[in-house]
Amino acid sequence: MSTPSAGLLDDHHDHEQVLIVRDDASGMLAVIGVHSTALGPAVGGLRFQRYPSLSAAAVDAMRLSRAMTLKNSAAGLNLGGGKAVLVETGGPGTREEQLLAFARAINTLQGSYITAEDIGTTPADMDLLATETEWVMGRTPENGGYGDPSGPTARTVLGGIKEGARQRWGSTDLTGRSVAIVGIGKVGAILAELLVAEGATLQLADSRPERVEACVQRVGGQAGSVDDVLRAQVDVLAPCAIGEMIDVSTVPELRCEVIAGAANNPLLDDATAEALAARDVLFVPDFLANCGGMIQIGAEFSGGGAAEVDESVDRAAARLRDVLDQAAAEKRVPLFVARELAMERVRAASGGATASARA
Ligand SMILES: NC(=O)c1ccc[n+]([C@@H]2O[C@H](COP(=O)([O-])OP(=O)(O)OC[C@H]3O[C@@H](n4cnc5c(N)ncnc54)[C@H](O)[C@@H]3O)[C@@H](O)[C@H]2O)c1
Repeated sequence: MSTPSAGLLDDHHDHEQVLIVRDDASGMLAVIGVHSTALGPAVGGLRFQRYPSLSAAAVDAMRLSRAMTLKNSAAGLNLGGGKAVLVETGGPGTREEQLLAFARAINTLQGSYITAEDIGTTPADMDLLATETEWVMGRTPENGGYGDPSGPTARTVLGGIKEGARQRWGSTDLTGRSVAIVGIGKVGAILAELLVAEGATLQLADSRPERVEACVQRVGGQAGSVDDVLRAQVDVLAPCAIGEMIDVSTVPELRCEVIAGAANNPLLDDATAEALAARDVLFVPDFLANCGGMIQIGAEFSGGGAAEVDESVDRAAARLRDVLDQAAAEKRVPLFVARELAMERVRAASGGATASARA
């Protein structure tokens, strides 16, 4: 994985707004990226983690918020793209005090950015934010929210794997198919269960081996190191950890035929997507495969129920099939086709001129 450098900032900037917010009393330091509000308020999760520098955090917020524009558009939601990253500063305030300071900061945007959970935050954190701001989704069911979005995300990832299988082997039947999952967190663990129920065999890895052990105990599968499982001889690789784990130097080492997972931006750049296509590895666009969580958050926002979430999850698989079919017919990289279609909707909503389609 490579860390985005400050020098990339210009390449990543086609946003409506990027805000750096801080609160000295608590030590809260965050970057909020509002990429596009053409389709609706910019919605995307709050990531809480360590960053080597503020510019690295800014680049992450900008890349992730742009990806949210694509994801929300591709999922058919009337929501724009945004994302926030909260930098782990160590204080002087507590984690809770920093979260509350962040909630007050997003109030200044008056609803053009709506937050939700992401890596490093939970539905309980969203409940805490909701004590200071109304611009928050993904709260616990006890507090009027729809809870953890990881279940619907795992379901659309499964749909992505099946559509990848249909495209590659002519059938969505996963019986006997081998799948390597890298990242056995909230989504990866649920995906493992769903895949076993479909008859797939698993290889599992995580930088925290205890998570792999717990998953193997629960559903079976074979544990391995992250490096080995990423490069395992399998039918499908499902990246479900962090982004940018695959770059052009990794591509020749991969021994899978299909890649479909939960991680946002699992490929470092477009050159990686082209290198995969040149090796005939089918990369199922990440923002189509992992949109289930946003579908649930969108339903929470609009007041839709569980049935609406189920229907939208099914529609996401159908949209994915269309994109893969179109890419195959036009002999193009599916990621580029998916991006173009998602941005067409954004452009139509904004009357033609809007943010670029780069991811
Ligand atoms: N949760 C959702 O609904 C959702 C929705 C869309 C996208 N995603 C994306 O999917 C991915 C997984 O989400 P999650 O909610 O399961 O997160 P999580 O934090 O629960 O799980 C991530 C797992 O990856 C592991 N990990 C971190 N760095 C690693 C590395 N370098 N190598 C191997 N393992 C590593 C962590 O130990 C953890 O177990 C993230 O990239 C997230 O942004 C999640």
